[in-house]
Amino acid sequence: MLTKTVAPGLSDLPPVRSDSLLALIALANADSRPEKIDVGVGVYRDADGRTPVLRAVKEAERRLWEAQDSKGYLGGAGDKIFPELLKPIVLGPHAADERIAGLQTPGGCGALYLAFQLIRLADPSARVFMGVPTWPNHPPMARGAGLEIVEYDHLDRDTGGVRVDALLERLQDARPGDVVLLHGCCHNPTGADLSEQEWDEVARVIAERGLLPLIDIAYQGLGRGLEEDAYGVRVILDACDEALIAQSCDKNFGVYRDRVGCLFMKTRSKEATATAMAHLLQLAREAWSMPPDHGAAAVRMVLQDGALTGDWKAELEEMRQRIATVRERIASSDERLAFIADQYGMFSMLPLTREQVVGLREKHAIYMADSGRFNVVGIADEAIDRFCAAVIEALDGEVAHG
Ligand SMILES: Cc1ncc(COP(=O)(O)O)c(C=O)c1O
Repeated sequence: MLTKTVAPGLSDLPPVRSDSLLALIALANADSRPEKIDVGVGVYRDADGRTPVLRAVKEAERRLWEAQDSKGYLGGAGDKIFPELLKPIVLGPHAADERIAGLQTPGGCGALYLAFQLIRLADPSARVFMGVPTWPNHPPMARGAGLEIVEYDHLDRDTGGVRVDALLERLQDARPGDVVLLHGCCHNPTGADLSEQEWDEVARVIAERGLLPLIDIAYQGLGRGLEEDAYGVRVILDACDEALIAQSCDKNFGVYRDRVGCLFMKTRSKEATATAMAHLLQLAREAWSMPPDHGAAAVRMVLQDGALTGDWKAELEEMRQRIATVRERIASSDERLAFIADQYGMFSMLPLTREQVVGLREKHAIYMADSGRFNVVGIADEAIDRFCAAVIEALDGEVAHG
């Protein structure tokens, strides 16, 4: 007879502290009311409420299917042409800077993961300054790399703008080598972006104090425009000798599940960048060995073909315009929502209590995060008026959690 020894192990793990967004998705999926509006979801939806594959991507995938004659390994760096093609889009005039190198990663998440791990390797005592609220994955990723976080208030709740005063004040506490995590554009969850003048000021302070900027740019082209949205990245690169830029193609190419991203890194010299890149490859090797190829190959094919690139830019502009139009419609429905027109990207936060959010769910089948964060383009065109009326009812205190 086998005698088993029972040690504390896999079977004794405590429950995960539930991710409220995942719980929300489960609740929304279980609701069969036909009028349901799901603005908790984090993907772009068109006027009919669909998340289509972009034409240019579909065409690139067709060509890829025809041309690809092997699925052999590509190596740890993945597709080496892909970051080179992204450079002019993200870095603009800095694309030719030999102190900057890019590495393909599994989505923006992969790029952030590598960035935090590289920071820990370079200086484990570096602290990460981040404005809150921020994308809920930022704090656990920074902490997961063993880094300490220093918070400041990102959002001015009276104006819907950025508390740039809070950011600059907090940076007075930063030590040389500390990290400043900034959203390149389309801040998630607030939609509150730095203005160009504010970027200039923040870049100056970061350079003067010897801080390391880490820019997370996951929505380029969905805010003010493809070039305009990269303003922050470029002034930071103008001002700073070292920088990390975690980029994602998942939203602006609509390839979410294919996991397409890139980490750009700038150091003080071409040689130091080569050494840091070898570390990045080692870190990537330990985590995922090689990035997935399909989505990055499709993006590469779009960017290698002038006609496909033009079509992609046109579709991206359509998405951007829809976001701006829906923002205008919501903002004009009530003066308490006017701030939404001055914000950018897919997300904003409604000034609702948790009870009001739950009330909207129960009474109107409207699903959003408890914080009031909602996806502006989660709503099909035909449902926008209904959405606004329900939110106004809630703001008036007439939607209670029953
Ligand atoms: C601010 C921010 N950064 C990074 C990401 C990660 O994007 P990806 O899906 O490419 O990993 C997201 C995704 O929602 C995001 O909102």
